[in-house]
Amino acid sequence: MNKHWILSSVAAIALLGALSASAVAAPEEGLIDPRNQAYEKDHPDQYKTWKETSESEEIEDALAHDPNMVILWAGYGFAKDYNKARGHFYALDDVRQTLRTGGPTDPKSGPMPMACWSCKSPDVGRVIDERGEDGYFEGKWARLGAEISNPIGCADCHDTRSDAFKNGEPALAIAKPYVERAFEAIGKKFDEQSRLDQQASVCAQCHVEYYFTGPTKAVKFPWDMGTTVGEMETYYDALNFKDWQHAVSKAPMLKAQHPGYETWRDGIHGKNGVVCVDCHMPKVTKEDGTVFTDHKVGNPFDRFEDTCANCHTQTKEQLQGIVSTRKAQVLNMKLTAEKQIVAAHFEAGAAWDAGATEEEMKPILMDIRHAQWRWDYAIASHGVHMHAPEVALEILGTSVDKAADARAKLIRLLAKKGITDPVEIPDISTKEKAQAALGMDMDKMNAEKQHFLETVVPEWDKEAAAREAKY
Ligand code: HEC
Ligand code: HEC
Ligand code: HEC
Ligand code: HEC
Repeated sequence: MNKHWILSSVAAIALLGALSASAVAAPEEGLIDPRNQAYEKDHPDQYKTWKETSESEEIEDALAHDPNMVILWAGYGFAKDYNKARGHFYALDDVRQTLRTGGPTDPKSGPMPMACWSCKSPDVGRVIDERGEDGYFEGKWARLGAEISNPIGCADCHDTRSDAFKNGEPALAIAKPYVERAFEAIGKKFDEQSRLDQQASVCAQCHVEYYFTGPTKAVKFPWDMGTTVGEMETYYDALNFKDWQHAVSKAPMLKAQHPGYETWRDGIHGKNGVVCVDCHMPKVTKEDGTVFTDHKVGNPFDRFEDTCANCHTQTKEQLQGIVSTRKAQVLNMKLTAEKQIVAAHFEAGAAWDAGATEEEMKPILMDIRHAQWRWDYAIASHGVHMHAPEVALEILGTSVDKAADARAKLIRLLAKKGITDPVEIPDISTKEKAQAALGMDMDKMNAEKQHFLETVVPEWDKEAAAREAKY
């Protein structure tokens, strides 16, 4: 199976190479060079600090911290595993290693579409540039695994082909046409944006809400009606769009991605024109007095003097105290919402078991969909407790409210079906127990992933190295 694929793809590469040796143009001939190291010579400070994102290497298992999330995502990839974000340097490793991308054995096997590479690598912009959007998006995730070989880097945020960039100007650019269309939809064409806006927009290529749509499952941002939680909810509802059907409640669910840009816009800093880069990529002065942009995107508190202290007179301890209080408030509200939504899923499952009809369930499932979308929108906006805590708390409040609506309806419906005892919730006190309660075969998934990492990935790396050797 997979040997066959490897053999045939090696043959295909050899053939392709023979047919189009002249067409495998080097970056000097106008193609995007996705290799971060290629820019080290011209821009050593930016390269060195970019590479330091590798220092944020810790993997934190979010499901182990909060097993409720296994239940909330039942039937969807995120119930398999979900780690907290770490440095940009690891984006490619992490998308290969997560159980969500499964263990494909050939270019056609899933489970995920090509779109899943989109926020991981400057090779994405390169492949779109060379093959067009359809040529990039069509097919399953494993189709172009060998083409996507560099982690998030220079060509994701810069027009690396421009003279301006070579001369040390930022030349910020959006590498993906679907991002340009999204900005046009909200009346903010990238080319017409101010320098500050562009600094936030390069981050918004990835730190946003998006979904996969159309025959090629291409990335689209759901911004046609606006970027608030309610506007995007209305947009998805109007399309009848769902990411998946919940395994317990059968509700048509939405998975929020990471609408960090959208929530930042609504927070105090976003409203005051303080952009991502002011805190995450500050300008720093070298010993020789020259200034450059620190490319180690990480926690701004690690460089307090170059970030917060530029605008605030409080001490680091004071500001950190405020932020950690807000973090605790958001976490508390998050857990409150989860408790209600988890119960609603199980109660809906019990209602189906008791013979509830589609018609009886429909309004309840919509409440559950909306409750969880709002919960997810708030918590998947990583850093929201800093960027826009009041927005997060308000949204989580509406999440609790929607879940309460669902549960009030469920209690009446269950009573109608003769069930008056509280619905029992299985032991979901750990990630493993929650996954077992859903009947998930984790050993099988882990074995498939291991096989993929040991057999397919090395071939991808070999092919990529051969291609890049020609640059
Ligand atoms: C996540 C987006 C992002 C990535 C990845 C990125 N940059 Fe930048 N870069 C920026 C931003 C934002 C600025 C500052 C823009 C401004 O001042 O308006 C910048 C500025 C620069 C500048 C202008 C001089 C300066 O320091 O301000 C150079 C040169 C540069 N980057 C090189 C690189 C190189 C080389 C890489 C890859 C190793 C890289 N960048 C990766 C976003 C990025
Ligand atoms: C090409 C997509 C992409 C772009 C552009 C991008 N990010 Fe990210 N960012 C990611 C992904 C993916 C991760 C998670 C990486 C992982 O965990 O493997 C991440 C992680 C982060 C983290 C967590 C880092 C850590 O060490 O925990 C921060 C902070 C962050 N990004 C901020 C930014 C900012 C600010 C910008 C703009 C200057 C930006 N990102 C641009 C995709 C992107
Ligand atoms: C006013 C400063 C500021 C601005 C502006 C800002 N951030 Fe942050 N961000 C922070 C701080 C501080 C943290 C860490 C909070 C903490 O320590 O709990 C953070 C956390 C994050 C995280 C979570 C990192 C993790 O590992 O969990 C991401 C991702 C992120 N920011 C991305 C962005 C993006 C994208 C933008 C712009 C759309 C942005 N930030 C704008 C200050 C800022
Ligand atoms: C480029 C300037 C700038 C930077 C950098 C900056 N801030 Fe701010 N911050 C502001 C402005 C402007 C406001 C709004 C002030 C006002 O309305 O009084 C603000 C407001 C705040 C508030 C009060 C918000 C509220 O909800 O009441 C906090 C807390 C805060 N900032 C924390 C931080 C932290 C922490 C950092 C560093 C991670 C940071 N800021 C970086 C400009 C900045």
